[in-house]
Amino acid sequence: MKKVSVATKEVPVNLFKIWIISSSLNLLLWALPFIFGKYTDVTFPYIAGNDIVQELVSLVGTLQGDVHWCPPISPYLENSIRLHDNSDIKIVPKEILVLKFGIQNGGMWKPSVCQSRYKVAVVIPYRNRTHHLKQFLSHLHPFLIRQQLDYRIIVVEQYGNSEFNRAKLLNIGFVETLKLVDVDCFIFHDVDLLPVNDFNIYACTYLPRHMYSAVDTFRYQLPYRNLFGGTIAIQRIHFRAVNGFSNQFYGWGGEDDDFYSRIERKSLRIIRFDPKIATYIMLPHPKVLPSEDRFHRMNEGKTSQDYDGLSDLSYEIIDKKLYQLYTWFLAAC
Ligand code: BGC
Ligand code: MN
Repeated sequence: MKKVSVATKEVPVNLFKIWIISSSLNLLLWALPFIFGKYTDVTFPYIAGNDIVQELVSLVGTLQGDVHWCPPISPYLENSIRLHDNSDIKIVPKEILVLKFGIQNGGMWKPSVCQSRYKVAVVIPYRNRTHHLKQFLSHLHPFLIRQQLDYRIIVVEQYGNSEFNRAKLLNIGFVETLKLVDVDCFIFHDVDLLPVNDFNIYACTYLPRHMYSAVDTFRYQLPYRNLFGGTIAIQRIHFRAVNGFSNQFYGWGGEDDDFYSRIERKSLRIIRFDPKIATYIMLPHPKVLPSEDRFHRMNEGKTSQDYDGLSDLSYEIIDKKLYQLYTWFLAAC
């Protein structure tokens, strides 16, 4: 009896503390873009809209058979912004998407009237976000089809209850995709980010690209210059050159910063497109507490990049399937 009364007294105190801490952290997070955007000179090397096409790298080799190349800018791109906020995203039943566009099993599509200049694999680290995945696929398939890409969507789901390891899932996605298809351009994509502008072409650039320059939840301002999270496009050779992502980041945060430092270490740079084009909206979800040891990991990462990554990747594929709208891997890691 005594124990019970102690416990009931403690609960409100703890909740209050947690509330105070998380509110102040939230406040800080919201204030950062404002402070940096307004009062310091943080300029980003954006690629202007008109220069985007010349930054894209084809990587598909020669024409196959009798077809001609698709035009450098797809005639199906639409100038109007489709998504204004995250209430705009309607789920389209998969049968309709398949029938309307002729998407192949495993979430593959390519133009039939011409040969696409760009072949890409879109890899999504995933667990427990069914609704987001449906919204993502409803939006992304038509979006990629309008861009006349030769693409495949791959979902790598983490098996079991250990903490989410986004970076390792992406390494696994990279390796498993290459067992299925010869592709030189990878887009690593969070399931809750949706591009709003058709001219944000989902092909690789000569340099690795951070794909969002403006997101609604960051009030369309980047919190810091070297942010390399959420959605990136990178060539296969560059990904190999940096030994992929670290496998050591369990829980939220840091893995993208570590990846950025890998890029820097190989004397590569990153680019971004004009924020008017590289705009995203983020699907709502409860905030996850950042992992406590991410700074420690990032520090360690400085010396372990050559042997932590693709080179020591170990995992088990528990299951895999070609679903209508995506290729699915269930991975224990
Ligand atoms: C984390 C990153 C994250 C970024 C933006 C940073 O503090 O380390 O992993 O992408 O915040 O949310
Ligand atoms: Mn998110």
